[in-house]
Amino acid sequence: MSESTEGIVAIGLRGVKAGKTAICTVGREGHGLHYRGYSIEDLSAHGSFEEVSFLLLKGKLPTKSDLESWSEELQKYHDLPDPLKRVLEQIPSNAHPMDVLRTGVSMLGTLEPEKDFSHQDKLALRILSILPSILGYWYHHVKGKEAPLDVKVNSHAEYVMRMLKETPPTESEIKMMDVALILYAEHEFNASTFTARVCASTLSDFYSCITGAIGTLKGPLHGGANERAMEYILNFKTPEDAVEGTKNRLARKERIMGFGHGVYKVRDPRNAIIKEQARKLCEEAGKMDLFQIAEAIEKVMWDEKKLFPNLDYYAGLAFYVAGIEIPMFTPVFVFSRTSGWAAHVIEQRSDNKLIRPSALYTGPEPREYVPIDQR
Ligand code: COA
Repeated sequence: MSESTEGIVAIGLRGVKAGKTAICTVGREGHGLHYRGYSIEDLSAHGSFEEVSFLLLKGKLPTKSDLESWSEELQKYHDLPDPLKRVLEQIPSNAHPMDVLRTGVSMLGTLEPEKDFSHQDKLALRILSILPSILGYWYHHVKGKEAPLDVKVNSHAEYVMRMLKETPPTESEIKMMDVALILYAEHEFNASTFTARVCASTLSDFYSCITGAIGTLKGPLHGGANERAMEYILNFKTPEDAVEGTKNRLARKERIMGFGHGVYKVRDPRNAIIKEQARKLCEEAGKMDLFQIAEAIEKVMWDEKKLFPNLDYYAGLAFYVAGIEIPMFTPVFVFSRTSGWAAHVIEQRSDNKLIRPSALYTGPEPREYVPIDQR
């Protein structure tokens, strides 16, 4: 086997521009993030997830009336078909919620299949709208309860919170969720979006693209990091413990989830925004001890490795303090990133070329087949 990498442009496609997009720029000036030209600082300070999902899918900010009808539609498509409910009821109570979402979207694709691409905009809205219902239905069902699927809400963020918690959320929790949904919505050619685009490039259907993306997002090097990050913070009782424990881990060359980034090299611009939300919720809930532990870990990571927190780190803490169970963290990422995935599927279809790279072969040279009785 040859160990040579000659001929490989970049392992893991790092730094390779694998296609064109008008949806998002990551890392402009090293640490910027813009959705269709608008900075996430502006979008999260002044916008809502409804506005951002419209922007990503339609390419422009909505007018007041655009926004009203978009928000209404997002709420109109919450309903779950009965056969989907039956499937969700069969899923074991110890299943990972990401598997529930993956199965739910796949099942929906059999019930409401995409026959051609003429309704892709509506389909994107339908999937975006129904995802929290899919998870909420299963989550409440395994607790022997009924999800409040027809609850009246003022925003998608509020609906998400209603599906993921048994008690009504506070205004601050809803605000935090809205900000998190904005920050998670889009990130150029990350692994899950690239999966969706590869699938779209074969001219497969919308559900297949989203199902594949959910599976990719589940991995701890991608979306799963927010769950691992919170579990890590919970290992410690005091900031001092956290400092010592983190130094020990780094000495053993272990990774701390929620730190570092494949594109950003100095900071993740989403971190400052979500960190503020986490701080606010910790203050309100009287859980500043957790925030201080999180900050202590952040400081060691910077001092020792020059590694900074990515969005997942404080998002995990914010979700936890808002009363969301840890296995539900990555699904929140799905509720949001589906807007970006859908925008990419539509963009890929609009100017399609099958994505089909080649590989540097490292296996044996051509050799003679040996019949089984001679081996
Ligand atoms: N904890 C500890 N060390 C880390 C680290 C982390 N979170 N992230 C990177 N490193 C170290 C690596 O061990 C490696 O060290 P070495 O050179 O001594 O071997 C070095 O930094 C480079 O790592 P590499 O994986 O090549 O960097 P990358 O830029 O390709 O990795 C990530 C990007 C996101 C995969 C990586 O930072 C990571 O695994 N982070 C944790 C998972 C996570 O939070 N994912 C969510 C991303 S939004």
